[in-house]
Amino acid sequence: MSSYYLTKIVPGLKEYVAAEGLRSDSDNGSYLRAVRDAVASYRHFENFKRDKAYNKILEHVSQQDGAAYLEILKARDDGILQGAMDTLLQSDAVGNPRKYTYEGRELSPTTLRYLKVASDLKILFGGDIGQKIAEIGGGYGGQALVCDTIFETGEYHVFDLPDVNQLVSKYLESFVLSGAYVTHTLNAALKDSYDLVISNYAFSEVPKPVQLAYIRKVLSQSKRGYLTMNSGRTDHAGKEETKLDLEALQSLLPPFEIYEEEPVTAHHNYIIVWGHQVGATL
Ligand SMILES: C[S@@+](CC[C@H](N)C(=O)[O-])C[C@H]1O[C@@H](n2cnc3c(N)ncnc32)[C@H](O)[C@@H]1O
Repeated sequence: MSSYYLTKIVPGLKEYVAAEGLRSDSDNGSYLRAVRDAVASYRHFENFKRDKAYNKILEHVSQQDGAAYLEILKARDDGILQGAMDTLLQSDAVGNPRKYTYEGRELSPTTLRYLKVASDLKILFGGDIGQKIAEIGGGYGGQALVCDTIFETGEYHVFDLPDVNQLVSKYLESFVLSGAYVTHTLNAALKDSYDLVISNYAFSEVPKPVQLAYIRKVLSQSKRGYLTMNSGRTDHAGKEETKLDLEALQSLLPPFEIYEEEPVTAHHNYIIVWGHQVGATL
């Protein structure tokens, strides 16, 4: 009997990728099942952005935060919002996301967050993010799709769990990309250098041994970095012993600057940036 069949008939059964102690916050037993369902069945894939277990990890941006991202994009007037309406519509057409009415249009707040990140990248790196991009913890490929459209990136390398990489492929194959994408697992990836590494709520959610391996194989060789962090600050009680703290990150990563997350989605969050234009403000 396949494990897929077992999960369908035993609702409480949990599934993990990594051994205990090496699991990220998202490798929680339920997320992976939702991902496997979306990969295995087109019926699930059509609605995966509304799956309750999936929403504990992804596609859970609030209506209010979506409105805040939209306000920032409007205030910046950097062309991202105007140019991205087609992107929004194509991304939101797949996986049936929860949408809200923003200024008369039905939009997913999660896609608005991906656009806000793209806008940050444009400001920080002066519109030149390079051609070879790595993203650690790519979700379903939403940030990849936005970056491909806005920056016309050449190679976009997504690092995620094996089943999640299959979902990324299934999602991105729903569209026509400007450049190319490649998926990797940490262990199958060779040490390589990148023009930019992105990781939002992902590098900061894997345990120390996994963080150290990503630093060795990906982050330390990347010219530019943009990492939205939800661990590492000492005022975030309860998680620090399993994740690298800021002091350790400062000694292991290229010299970086800290920006505050805006809107802040958890009080201990922050953004690590390197290789950017000195004095760039978000
Ligand atoms: C909270 S989600 C964030 C997803 C995406 N960056 C976003 O902003 O929507 C965490 C991501 O980390 C991924 N992840 C979990 N363990 C991982 C690992 N060992 N290596 C890379 N990614 C991992 C999850 O599958 C998921 O895509």
